[in-house]
Amino acid sequence: MKKSKFYVTTPIYYVNDKPHIGHAYTTILADVLTRYHESIGDEVFFLTGLDEHGQKVKQAAEKRNLSCQEHCNDLAPRFINLWEKLEIKYSDFIRTTQERHIKLVQSVLQKVYEKGDIYMDEYEGWYSVAEERFITATEKESGQFRDVKMLKERNWFFKMSKYQRNLIDHINNNPQFIRPESRKNEILGFLRQPLGDLCISRPKERMDWGIEIPFDREYVTYVWFDALLNYVTGVGFEADNDKFNKWWPADIHLIGKDILTTHSVYWSTMLFSLGLPLPKTIFAHGWWLIGETKMSKSLGNVVNPLDMAEQYGVDALRYYLMREMVLGQDSSFTLESFIKRYNSDLANDFGNLLNRVSGLIGKYFDSVVPAVKGKTAAEEDIEKSFNELMPKIRTLILEFKINEAIEETMQLIRKVNKYLESQAPWKVAKENLERAGTILYTATEALRLAAILLLPVMPSKCGRVMEVLSADKTELLWGGLKSGTKLQTHEALFPRIEEEKK
Ligand code: MSP
Repeated sequence: MKKSKFYVTTPIYYVNDKPHIGHAYTTILADVLTRYHESIGDEVFFLTGLDEHGQKVKQAAEKRNLSCQEHCNDLAPRFINLWEKLEIKYSDFIRTTQERHIKLVQSVLQKVYEKGDIYMDEYEGWYSVAEERFITATEKESGQFRDVKMLKERNWFFKMSKYQRNLIDHINNNPQFIRPESRKNEILGFLRQPLGDLCISRPKERMDWGIEIPFDREYVTYVWFDALLNYVTGVGFEADNDKFNKWWPADIHLIGKDILTTHSVYWSTMLFSLGLPLPKTIFAHGWWLIGETKMSKSLGNVVNPLDMAEQYGVDALRYYLMREMVLGQDSSFTLESFIKRYNSDLANDFGNLLNRVSGLIGKYFDSVVPAVKGKTAAEEDIEKSFNELMPKIRTLILEFKINEAIEETMQLIRKVNKYLESQAPWKVAKENLERAGTILYTATEALRLAAILLLPVMPSKCGRVMEVLSADKTELLWGGLKSGTKLQTHEALFPRIEEEKK
């Protein structure tokens, strides 16, 4: 089969604070997709990084009495180290203060300017300092914006309105472009009103932390015009044509729902102006709420992914985040639900299956995987379930239904545990060792295949199962486990957490 390419991105995160669980979620999701696509033979490019310009970062640096660049250099390792700890396999890590990006942004500005899509105008309107942009009267009335003031300023504007029609047509002709469907409708609704042009400059005297506008040195670039271009800088736009042509357009931009307009409207119109193809899909996921509440520093309820990973393990955190969120909807994060999920799925179902088969094969077969002699309907049923599961998982992952793919796999693990209970190889072994061998081979082979299916989500723990079984991570056909293989000793995969009622 011909290899496909898969280019996946996360938003680039503001370096105004340490990474939180929302950042970890999107980055893990991109990593899971990367690993899954690699496992089916695709070539993958996974880009993540940091958004280092703009007012938010400037304010954060000022608070710490550091220069903006010092502040960014100091915080960047917190992201990089967290991704390493969470086993994130990105292909490139972009920082918008890197020379390659500054050069690209300036060149794009020049091009778009020469094309006539950028003009100077004086604008008077409501400006939200917190949001760092002019807001409409309706937005002001909504009361959602803090630090709003009247501002009159001369600025550079990008002719976003010129591409409104192209954008509407593109959305209508490409049902996969904005997902989920409800978000697509939201954007189409937004586009029913005439689209204004986008103010893309900030006068240096007011805000100087940004990329200088090449044709007007009194101004720096608005942070979003700069940041969105990371997606093309990262794959070599204007620097390495072969690389760029290989990867662009992106297959998927993973983003949170709050940055949907910037991606689907600002970014798309920028790409139209540049004459570049649009990304195939922009997928907006929901938010992690803490219980029922929004996560915020002022409420003091921000979940630190590093603490969770250190306390409960990286794979358990990855599993919880991927299993719990229905892509597109908000999800509630609580320690209670985390522990419950861990104990039921990982300790009781998955970890327990490994313990059982390795314990029994240890006891009755000297830890050597037995052979299959005469399958009954019960074995045929397990085998059939797995053969049906594999293509199903593929479809679910390609549909971004990660939680369902995980649940389907867990259901099979539960089925195998039930099979073991009903077949009771520990009893059978006393009269018919051969039959006990068939049962244990079947359960172990099912465990091996389930572990492969869960590898993208839990690379360490599933990798450990592969080591215990001396198995090949890529052998996805039933029967890949070799009889005669000596099982290695192992620790409990997921020791129970005894604090459920905390
Ligand atoms: N720098 C911009 C993105 C530029 S992309 C060209 C930005 N950065 S951010 O750090 O504020 O947010 C990054 C992402 O985190 C967004 O996708 C946002 O939706 C996500 N999240 C912030 N809080 C979140 C939750 N509580 N839950 C899930 N994701 C959340 O915006």
